[in-house]
Amino acid sequence: MKIQLVKGTHDIFGQEMIYYQYIANALSALVEKYNYSKFDTPILEHASLFQRKNDSSDIVRKQMYIFNDLKNRPLTLRPECTPGVVRCLVNNNLNYDYPIKAYYLGPVFRYENPKYGTYRQFIQFGVENIGLNNVYVDIETILLSYKLLQQIKLNNLILKINSLGDLESREKYIQALKKFFAQFIQNMCDDCQERFKINPLRILDCKDLKDQKIIQNAPKITDYLNSESKNRFEKTKQMLAKLNIPYEIDENLVRGLDYYSHIVFEYQYINNKKINIGAICGGGHYDNLVSELGGPKISGVGFAFGIERIFNILKEENTLPKIDDNFDFIIMPINENNIEYCFFLNEKLKKLNYKTEVFFEKKSLKSMFHTIEKKNGKYAVIVGDNEIKNQEVIIKNMKSRKETKILIQDLEKKLIQLIKHEN
Ligand code: HAM
Repeated sequence: MKIQLVKGTHDIFGQEMIYYQYIANALSALVEKYNYSKFDTPILEHASLFQRKNDSSDIVRKQMYIFNDLKNRPLTLRPECTPGVVRCLVNNNLNYDYPIKAYYLGPVFRYENPKYGTYRQFIQFGVENIGLNNVYVDIETILLSYKLLQQIKLNNLILKINSLGDLESREKYIQALKKFFAQFIQNMCDDCQERFKINPLRILDCKDLKDQKIIQNAPKITDYLNSESKNRFEKTKQMLAKLNIPYEIDENLVRGLDYYSHIVFEYQYINNKKINIGAICGGGHYDNLVSELGGPKISGVGFAFGIERIFNILKEENTLPKIDDNFDFIIMPINENNIEYCFFLNEKLKKLNYKTEVFFEKKSLKSMFHTIEKKNGKYAVIVGDNEIKNQEVIIKNMKSRKETKILIQDLEKKLIQLIKHEN
């Protein structure tokens, strides 16, 4: 029986896997330069890690995969990585050496409506810088996200920023939103009616066109920031300008998770074809998450990229680099009784650090050459009775078709010369 993929999931293999690895390696190499170290926290967590008191985000309320294990404990497949990293820091008392600079790469799960760039299982790459409540840490984190995008040549992105202020500013703002939306809420979508009850800030996120017209005239957070929050936002904007990082202020940017205060940011993709792929990266500053999860009262800042979305855009824009993943040598035993000899020759070539493969099945020369071409092999290594008798091999360059005989005892030295000469 043929089993289909679970809706919203996808297989990654072949050329696509090579590119996923390229993206992950490029991102990891740069964050390591900023002294981030890799954390690998479990995919499976207690649901309570995410379902914290008064959580109003759709991600936690509507998109989590939750199930009871055999002892009836509610568990979840993580919908994001930030709380897992914080839990790890708290459980392991990692609070002796602030800041903790963690990066991660792994699958996350959200029960969303699958569409182009939106999956139910996808891969996030992200960082968390936890311990200091300092505007320069926020700015350095945004700078890092910007440099990561440049590193992988993702240029057509617009950075949107907003400030959600501190708790005091936010509470005042939420009161103002309540007062404003109370006049219209009866005519707004069902989701907004629910958001109105739990957290009117979430209404700003609504994608319903009719509701957006109302949202346009809603009070703006910038008018409710107290002086400390205002100064902090000003400093961030000044520094982004000094760093030549273009940005737009989006006063409706509230982000899909509940723990943010002060700066929040997202990178969105702009293109001629008007493809809406969603945000490529999102992040922000958080003040209470660590203490809510049983740790000290310290702040953090971080962001996460969706690897699928990065890959889709690079593909769309034809900017994926050429990655040479060809076989160096494919060994062709001419007769069945040459196979064992080729088995050992294959091991010898691997010891010399070449990427090799051998035909273990009896095949005609024509069909072996055909396979080598299909696999993009650079050289065929031809071994028949004569070659074994003379302790030599014939190396055929698959592009130039030129053949060279090499004695087995000279293999190491002569292959280096041959490859150098022919490239
Ligand atoms: P987020 O904005 O929910 O933030 O997700 C980060 C990124 O994951 C998005 O910008 C997007 O590229 C990708 N993404 C989200 N949902 C999907 C989906 N269904 N399919 C494909 N890609 C998706 C967070 O998760 C926060 N933990 C980021 C953060 C770290 N904030 C502070 N520290």
